[in-house]
Amino acid sequence: IHNVIFNDSKTGSFEVAKEIAKLIRKKQEAGKKCVLGLATGSSPIKVYEELVRMHKEEGLSFKNVVTFNLDEYYPMERNNIQSYHYFMHQHLFDHVDIDPANVNIPDGTVSPDKLQKYCRSYESQIEKAGGLDFQLLGIGRTGHIGFNEPGSHFNSATRDITLDHITRVDAAPAFKGLENVPRKAVTMGIGTIRKAKRIVLLAWGQNKSEIVRETIEGEISSEVPATYLQEHSNATFVLDKEAAAHLT
Ligand code: F6R
Repeated sequence: IHNVIFNDSKTGSFEVAKEIAKLIRKKQEAGKKCVLGLATGSSPIKVYEELVRMHKEEGLSFKNVVTFNLDEYYPMERNNIQSYHYFMHQHLFDHVDIDPANVNIPDGTVSPDKLQKYCRSYESQIEKAGGLDFQLLGIGRTGHIGFNEPGSHFNSATRDITLDHITRVDAAPAFKGLENVPRKAVTMGIGTIRKAKRIVLLAWGQNKSEIVRETIEGEISSEVPATYLQEHSNATFVLDKEAAAHLT
């Protein structure tokens, strides 16, 4: 893994937005689709803000962009303000010219008996689109990427997963109490993420410093699923000073 440390999350986010915009334009010039894997949560918000600004002020078009989000709570209605579906529209899709048909977010409303089949089809949609050109990630304090909690297999695919207690505690404020946080989620697998041609993980703040150190300097292990990124040939961690504070 390659690390880049910025003074603050704003400058780091701008750099990442620039890289994404450059890729979108390069694909556009070649007459190709640009397939982006996207994350929710607090970490990527400023990246999306900057991409929206570039769309409005610099003519950056999303007409050739196809997106696949990492995860969604399960069960979860699309129009629930806590859903990742809602989040993505609020922070990005409602403000750019992306074709709604090109937006893919795991569906939190699929019935349990159809879920396995649904997960397989999500996986094959990514393949049909030509694979992920770029995957944006955050990291949870359990070492999860997407919602691949400790114990996730190196080759795991899109599936339903039980959220770790720490992950639910971290989500509790947004849900106004732990008891309201869903127990499950649908997530792309570690195998899905690893196939991306380029991976950029964002981590901001002192709260992430310990898991960032374990991920970059620790042994590769399913106990910290993000350590699997050590074996990716084109993964960069974009950190602020606080998140990088424990690196040796
Ligand atoms: C979100 C996701 C999660 C988050 C992680 C960090 O789509 O896949 O892995 O990236 O939980 O969340 P924040 O950025 O809120 O600290």
